[in-house]
Amino acid sequence: MASLHPIRIAPSLLAADFTRLAEEIASVEDAGADWLHLDVMDGHFVPNLTIGPPVVAAIAGVARKPLDVHLMIEDPWTYAPRFLAAKPHVLSFHLEVALRRPGEATQLLRSIRAAGTRPGLALNPDQDVRALAPFVADVELVLVMSVFAGFGGQRFMPEVLDKPRVLRDELGFDGEIEMDGGIGPDTIGRAAAAGVNAFVAGTAVFAAQDRRARIAALRQAAREARGG
Ligand code: DX5
Ligand code: ZN
Repeated sequence: MASLHPIRIAPSLLAADFTRLAEEIASVEDAGADWLHLDVMDGHFVPNLTIGPPVVAAIAGVARKPLDVHLMIEDPWTYAPRFLAAKPHVLSFHLEVALRRPGEATQLLRSIRAAGTRPGLALNPDQDVRALAPFVADVELVLVMSVFAGFGGQRFMPEVLDKPRVLRDELGFDGEIEMDGGIGPDTIGRAAAAGVNAFVAGTAVFAAQDRRARIAALRQAAREARGG
């Protein structure tokens, strides 16, 4: 396998109690989360609306862990700078959007990196990962969706499990590979064995009785699946 990146467990705040966001953030940070995954939806790219730059800035003000911002929006060019102001660790937008304006997408990825944030591209389950080829050199993380972007709590789609192999072997991508959607104790091992190192988990973490035990179990299952 290509270089082994550290295992990252990234609880998705979409599954948190939004009336108590600071407490929820502290809870998963204390429970062992590596990153905080923030789902930004615009009601156009996906049929759902969530949070925007002011909420991300507020979260950045209380978070102790790095922010992993996932933009499910039609126009990252207008809005990425506003999210970059919160200094996230990762800022990803969607390949489907990038392919409409490839030259400008490359420029945007470079400007994200120049701002000190890791540029990422996300892709839905029906997207061919080979379409990422023109962007590979400018991307530090690929976010492989294992459900269709838009909502938490959906079922994991195992048909995406071949994508990490294609990224490594056919595209020569050696950055981080993250998977998002339906990740839990029963599915994380398959993702890890497929070459994923960063795991988004919304429902699996926030609905757990014992979040610390759940994050530890996810980490352990990922570790075992990739052989220690
Ligand atoms: C879906 C979001 C996910 C979602 C994951 O569009 O990108 O991050 O919150 O939720 P679970 O882990 O519940 O599938
Ligand atoms: Zn997400």
